[in-house]
Amino acid sequence: MLDARNAFFATGSYVPIADAVTAACIAATGSVGTSGSITSVAPSPSSARVRLAEVGCGTGYYLSTAVSGLDGAGIAVNPIAADLSPFGVRMSVRAVPGSAGVVLDVWQPLPFLDDTVDGILSVFAPRNLPEFARILRPGGFLVAVVPTTRHLQEIRADGLALDIPDGKPDALTDAASSWFTEEARSVVEFGMILTNEDLDNLIGMGPSAHHRAHSGPAQPDGPSASPDAEAAADGRDANGTDAGRRVTASVTVLTYRLIA
Ligand SMILES: C[S@@+](CC[C@H](N)C(=O)[O-])C[C@H]1O[C@@H](n2cnc3c(N)ncnc32)[C@H](O)[C@@H]1O
Repeated sequence: MLDARNAFFATGSYVPIADAVTAACIAATGSVGTSGSITSVAPSPSSARVRLAEVGCGTGYYLSTAVSGLDGAGIAVNPIAADLSPFGVRMSVRAVPGSAGVVLDVWQPLPFLDDTVDGILSVFAPRNLPEFARILRPGGFLVAVVPTTRHLQEIRADGLALDIPDGKPDALTDAASSWFTEEARSVVEFGMILTNEDLDNLIGMGPSAHHRAHSGPAQPDGPSASPDAEAAADGRDANGTDAGRRVTASVTVLTYRLIA
């Protein structure tokens, strides 16, 4: 799954999501004034750097892009890559210069002292909100990414991705409300043209991987489907070349601030 995830990210297809996550981190961490100076930064008593942890980091793609973006905005970061998978943590530490890696189970007490982290990233990953609140410093933030119901809708229609319940952002804001206030929300939605290999990686990198019964992205209805229909269904044109298939990416990026 991690290799599929890395291969899919390498296509650049999810850059708009990474950019939105980075922008949310920059906005939450501090704002760059007209002179280019930082006008506010989350308090970080023990260090001038912002301690940013991605919990459920996978390959470290979003942590890596956020750290680069923050660095470009003049905000120095101490990155922490955390995941249940030691392989994911190792990949992430290699991908994010200067990062520390932590293998952890998000459903257990997190191996951080109270009030020691400035920001947490949670992208398509499980969230332990009371533990996040405990380890964040006063004024700390959480940037979370959840899929909308339209995310990957074309491959869901083929039964190759799990259903997404409606209202995830509101449900998250409700669940977080004892510890966090929602500060910002944006929907990032765009079309991707994906080859069969991209589709294989996209499906292989997520929780739907085991739902995939064959290597093509779609199955024509019934044995009487024409070769053209079969080709169109799996993204090839009638000449057998891989013309690519349009797939929607649609997520909500949410920023939460720890309640003082
Ligand atoms: C869908 S992947 C997202 C990875 C990464 N944020 C990304 O978007 O590329 C979910 C990640 O959560 C991690 N994860 C699942 N259960 C976990 C747990 N109980 N504790 C920590 N991490 C967990 C998985 O190992 C996986 O890397």
